[in-house]
Amino acid sequence: MNKCNIIFYIGCVLSNINFASAHSGLLPLQAQGGATVLTSLDVAKASGAVIIGSDKIENLAIAYVTEAQAQKISQLSHFQGKCGGFELLTENEIQNPAGLLKQFQSVQNYFRRYNLFPPQNIVFNSDYQNLANLADPNSLKKTIQWLSSFPSRNHNLGDPNKHVLELEKELKVLLKDAPWQFEIQRIAHSSTRQESLKLKIIGSSRPSEIVVLGGHFDSINQSFFANQKAPGADDNASGSANLFEAVRALKSWPSFERTLEFYWYAGEEGGLLGSAEIAKDSQAKARDIIGVLQLDMTLFPGSGEHVIGLVDDFTSPWLRQFLTEINQHYVKAKFINDSCGYACSDHASWHRQGFHAVTPFEATTKTMNKKIHSDQDLIDTKSNFNHSNNFTKFAILFGLELGNSSLRP
Ligand code: BES
Ligand code: ZN
Repeated sequence: MNKCNIIFYIGCVLSNINFASAHSGLLPLQAQGGATVLTSLDVAKASGAVIIGSDKIENLAIAYVTEAQAQKISQLSHFQGKCGGFELLTENEIQNPAGLLKQFQSVQNYFRRYNLFPPQNIVFNSDYQNLANLADPNSLKKTIQWLSSFPSRNHNLGDPNKHVLELEKELKVLLKDAPWQFEIQRIAHSSTRQESLKLKIIGSSRPSEIVVLGGHFDSINQSFFANQKAPGADDNASGSANLFEAVRALKSWPSFERTLEFYWYAGEEGGLLGSAEIAKDSQAKARDIIGVLQLDMTLFPGSGEHVIGLVDDFTSPWLRQFLTEINQHYVKAKFINDSCGYACSDHASWHRQGFHAVTPFEATTKTMNKKIHSDQDLIDTKSNFNHSNNFTKFAILFGLELGNSSLRP
């Protein structure tokens, strides 16, 4: 019998049940042929346990396990670097699996807020740092100027794809001398006439494992009066430009083990339209998407230069921990955990489909740019390209760290 502490990973802090002692009083696995446990959905499935209740997004399962399945769960959990495998449930808890899942979802919410996911132990790599240092605020400024110079990028325009075609053209120019194999594609949608733009950098050794980096490229003017100009410099020419600038830097990296997919989404302001279709399609095709980085609004340093809001709802605790470590090692900005309170951008489309997503934000939601969604969302004296440049670095490092490793949640 495995004598180590068997604890569900959120239990690393909250509870610590010793496997042997937890079982010694009960001997349920041998005496009764099995027991009911709380564990991670992926390992429960892999162990062949009978799943009684589950939550795909939080990766939680209540499962009935035999002794052998319990040992398998424990083994698999250790491979994942977690400190435990499962938590035995009491008779009472088993009476109400739905209530129990709810209770643990609220514990997950606790962890989400306080960001207590086990360390991912990112190791500093000076080549990655050198590549991140290629992020150039002056080049970023020019790109944001260009992307915000379209009168509007609204998805309901008569011609809603003018800017999309322009970006596609410039991407092709940028990638003339790219060292890796890539594809550029415009994606048509059924919910909007606007198209999303996709750049796929094909992985050299594990191409079916996919790392997604995206931001919405559309803009909106929600005022009733005046003109309908929607320059959307901050929302979201800034994040779109960070992605373009990250691609520019990543050209200096010869190959990635995993596939990197960059998306400039259509119709986010119309209700996450482009990303919803793309994420749904990815889920339907069971694509192996490891993680999703969303960049939306990066130009206005409302909480101070280099102070960044880390959105802690509709996002993955694992990726928030991962991004926090990337920040500690390389970018060295200040993170403040903060909530949107609703599905505020495209990361929520991925989260909804059960994928791991993360989104660093220009400030806290309290101090964010209030001029968005108007003709005044322009480059002005408050715009800060050094601040925004941090987000280009996040995109570069997200691509390098996740694209060149076997890291998974
Ligand atoms: N960039 C904004 C809002 C935002 C706020 C994103 C805080 C990330 C953090 C985004 O483009 C937006 O306006 N979203 C809509 C929701 C959408 C479903 C129409 C909004 O907030 O109203
Ligand atoms: Zn936005």
